[in-house]
Amino acid sequence: MDLFEAIKTRRSVRKYTNKPVEHEKLEAVLEAVRMAPSWANYQCWRLVVVKDNAMKEKISALSYVESYFATRGYKTNPSMKALAEAPVVIILCADPAQSGSLWNQNYYLVDAGLAAQNMMLAARAQGLGTVFVGVYDEDKLKNLLHIPSTIRIVGLFPLGYPVEEKKDGPARKPVEEFCFFEKWDVN
Ligand SMILES: Cc1cc2nc3c(=O)[nH]c(=O)nc-3n(C[C@H](O)[C@H](O)[C@H](O)COP(=O)(O)O)c2cc1C
Repeated sequence: MDLFEAIKTRRSVRKYTNKPVEHEKLEAVLEAVRMAPSWANYQCWRLVVVKDNAMKEKISALSYVESYFATRGYKTNPSMKALAEAPVVIILCADPAQSGSLWNQNYYLVDAGLAAQNMMLAARAQGLGTVFVGVYDEDKLKNLLHIPSTIRIVGLFPLGYPVEEKKDGPARKPVEEFCFFEKWDVN
């Protein structure tokens, strides 16, 4: 699939079939992470790949954080079921000590974000789906997965075959709304 087609047609996928993800396709997704750019090429990302059903159930349960969702009128994390049902869940972590921090900007989040987008596009290009899940109980997840306290979890990514091909996602702002030319106030 052409890169622009992958960018344009990628959607957050929250319903998966039970078809397993082929080893080569998972490897290609991990390779896409490997090739992402990063601060000074430190490659601060760390991944935990989970296939065990019991473990995925526990991860799924930890994606509902009451203090976040209840106050926003949600009954659940919209991706909670996806984390239990997808054949693979990837936990994207980062080691902040292995990235840059300059003038109040912590680049480990940028590094991990770039890795995440490579991962999502590599999934899409191979007919797989995923979704960036950014709400979870980080401390309990670290405990569950034996992730060291110095590491941050940046996102959870169910990975598998989508039940349906989604055509339209949430609308995007037109370019004129976020892009200025030459100076901030000229578009
Ligand atoms: C940093 C980040 C955190 C997100 N967290 C969640 C989440 O916890 N649960 C969920 O269902 N979707 C989550 N999403 C998915 C967004 O809701 C989704 O990307 C956005 O609505 C645009 O839809 P699209 O991905 O289909 O284009 C997250 C996305 C990002 C980038």
